[in-house]
Amino acid sequence: MVQSWLLRGFLGLMWILPLWMDVMSDKCKALHTIKDQLNITLRRRYMKQNFPINYTIQVRYEEVFRLHNISRLRNEEDVNLMHLQGLWLTVAQKGIKKILQVLPEKHPTRRKYLTGLENLFRMYEQYGTLLSPAEEETPDSIRDILERLSEPDYQGWRSVKPKSVLDNCYRTMHCLFKECFSPDGNYDYCNILHWRKGSRTTPQPT
Ligand SMILES: *[C@@H]1O[C@H](CO)[C@@H](O)[C@H](O)[C@H]1NC(C)=O
Ligand SMILES: *[C@@H]1O[C@H](CO)[C@@H](O)[C@H](O)[C@H]1NC(C)=O
Ligand SMILES: *[C@@H]1O[C@H](CO)[C@@H](O)[C@H](O)[C@H]1NC(C)=O
Repeated sequence: MVQSWLLRGFLGLMWILPLWMDVMSDKCKALHTIKDQLNITLRRRYMKQNFPINYTIQVRYEEVFRLHNISRLRNEEDVNLMHLQGLWLTVAQKGIKKILQVLPEKHPTRRKYLTGLENLFRMYEQYGTLLSPAEEETPDSIRDILERLSEPDYQGWRSVKPKSVLDNCYRTMHCLFKECFSPDGNYDYCNILHWRKGSRTTPQPT
């Protein structure tokens, strides 16, 4: 009895596994496309050089999602990787929208960069929802953040440079999607030291 149950389970897995791997690698492909668009050359050109010096935009505190946010949220016992990946996506999409709001219709950063980036995130989102169990409860800590992200009479804005929105998005992406960016675990992208200039231990994807 147990054996046939095991066998059936095993056969079931054999069938579902390649399917899952496909979705998985499509998801990684989508993320790698985003990564290429977020490389340092393009981030500098479109998010810094195309703006006045020291230009800042107003964002909510929750719209800043950095490596230290991840380490803090990981200490909450009911928060798992999937929740953090979902939050990463929400914050990234909001950040891009925020920057688009201040840009005139014909600004090159809008036309040549952010519009395309927005589409890439939308494409990734499809794989994301395919992979995550929809019925799972959102932990309180994550729900609080999501609520503040869309609170209509929000207090406590802060100023950030547009480039820093994407810089943080880039780093946290590497940290949260190890399976795509460091499958053999060679790089500790979650460690802020990894991203410091002159870090000797690893190559520098800035
Ligand atoms: C970033 O991407 C652009 C466009 O694909 C490419 O020209 C540039 O060399 C890349 N920069 C780096 C640092 O990889
Ligand atoms: C931009 O900010 C830097 C650092 O805060 C400051 O040293 C510099 O003078 C500012 N530049 C301009 C043009 O305001
Ligand atoms: C990240 O941390 C900062 C500073 O502690 C906080 O203000 C912000 O709300 C956090 N962001 C998220 C998305 O949790």
